[in-house]
Amino acid sequence: MDKYKRLLLANKAWVQEKLSLSPHFFQEMAREQNPEFLWIGCSDSRVPAEEVTGTQPGEIFTHRNIANLVNHTDFNLLSVLSFAVEYLKVKHIIVCGHYGCGGVKAALSAHRYGVLDEWLRQIKDTYQANKEIVTAAGELDAQTDKLVEINIYEQLRNLLKTNIIQKAWHEERRPVLHGWVYGLSDGLIKSLYTIEPGAPIEDIYRFKF
Ligand code: CO
Repeated sequence: MDKYKRLLLANKAWVQEKLSLSPHFFQEMAREQNPEFLWIGCSDSRVPAEEVTGTQPGEIFTHRNIANLVNHTDFNLLSVLSFAVEYLKVKHIIVCGHYGCGGVKAALSAHRYGVLDEWLRQIKDTYQANKEIVTAAGELDAQTDKLVEINIYEQLRNLLKTNIIQKAWHEERRPVLHGWVYGLSDGLIKSLYTIEPGAPIEDIYRFKF
């Protein structure tokens, strides 16, 4: 059997399972979405947001890209962020990176990956700004994991520098920003950072409301 056909068969089985538990599952699902969480994660196939958090369809609004970056010129990310915060009114934004991230590892190397090098450039900047802490971690894998953690924090900082987040904080005191890291080798998520609405921002990044 062609491998892709397995996915279609599994879908049919999944539908049956959902219907056996709740006959109106899909009717309810089709009515609206009301997720409390925006997940910004890595595209890595081993970190599926719903599966690792035990959540159901409808619970997490999702944006994924290589190395879970919040890039201020990324129209895709900004559209997702705007819709999640301003229309869906999410209460929490989770930036979830993962140890052993190939994107972060690539940023640490001098190897050329084409257009990906430009995408990963901001991780090189983060390395450069935190070089002593990263190199003190030891071998390459340990350095990668340290940079994974710092990169997650930088993305929370990128979020709070946006007009979108500052406006929501000012008007509705939400969302809370969370920085999480997922362990590929044990499946566990560790909460590294939490930034509550109203947390201090340097003057230069602060907009006036
Ligand atoms: Co990754």
